[in-house]
Amino acid sequence: MKGKFISLEGGEGSGKTTAILFIQQWLDKQNINYLMTREPGGTPLAEEIRQLILTPREERVNDVAELLLVFAARAQHLAQKIQPALARGTWVVSDRFLDSSYVYQGHARGGDIAMLDHLADWVVGESKPDATLVLDVPVELGLQRVAERKHADRLDKESNDFHQKVRQGFLDRAATEPERVKVIDASLSLEEVQQQIEAQLVALQQSWTREE
Ligand SMILES: Nc1ncnc2c1ncn2[C@@H]1O[C@H](COP(=O)(O)OP(=O)(O)OP(=O)(O)O)[C@@H](O)[C@H]1O
Ligand SMILES: [Mg+2]
Repeated sequence: MKGKFISLEGGEGSGKTTAILFIQQWLDKQNINYLMTREPGGTPLAEEIRQLILTPREERVNDVAELLLVFAARAQHLAQKIQPALARGTWVVSDRFLDSSYVYQGHARGGDIAMLDHLADWVVGESKPDATLVLDVPVELGLQRVAERKHADRLDKESNDFHQKVRQGFLDRAATEPERVKVIDASLSLEEVQQQIEAQLVALQQSWTREE
């Protein structure tokens, strides 16, 4: 039986990495085999591509170049890690996946959505996530949460307007595909966020068990 594929999405500092740790504990309790991963990245080559994408640099990065780098990393990630895991029945939980491309390279950068659909069909095909949790927070709150912690990468350094587009982009993805994409109000306390995530996981597991 194939494993389930869940992606976590949301803007900078929305709580994706924190949510993943919580999901990991939940999967342990259910005795489900899983693999945690992230994008861009997830394999040695894809992590090298991640560095290329995220390192701040003098040279202006062409939008199409950025888009293709993201999909190159994703092709490697899918072939080497995600698809083999799903095939052996292991669940995969990814910190960001395809929706981030639609939102960052499409919505926020004004990239061609038809081209993204094309690349998604070609590179990802049937391996789209079974479920996606979007952690939604006001832009200022997300940036505030990460401000002290980390040193800003090339995308963190984008304008407020860019981050607003990112937030709206994820909400639009959820509105377009409400069956797959669930929005979590991540502005609440950690405990309340985790309650929402757990409720979604329980509902998903029930619906997947019914399908079997
Ligand atoms: N619900 C919450 N309430 C308060 N603080 C939170 C909440 N969720 C996460 N945090 C804190 O906010 C910071 C950012 O969270 P996290 O690293 O999980 O976000 P992220 O979406 O993975 O960020 P990035 O975009 O940098 O990868 C962390 O210091 C985390 O402990
Ligand atoms: Mg993170």
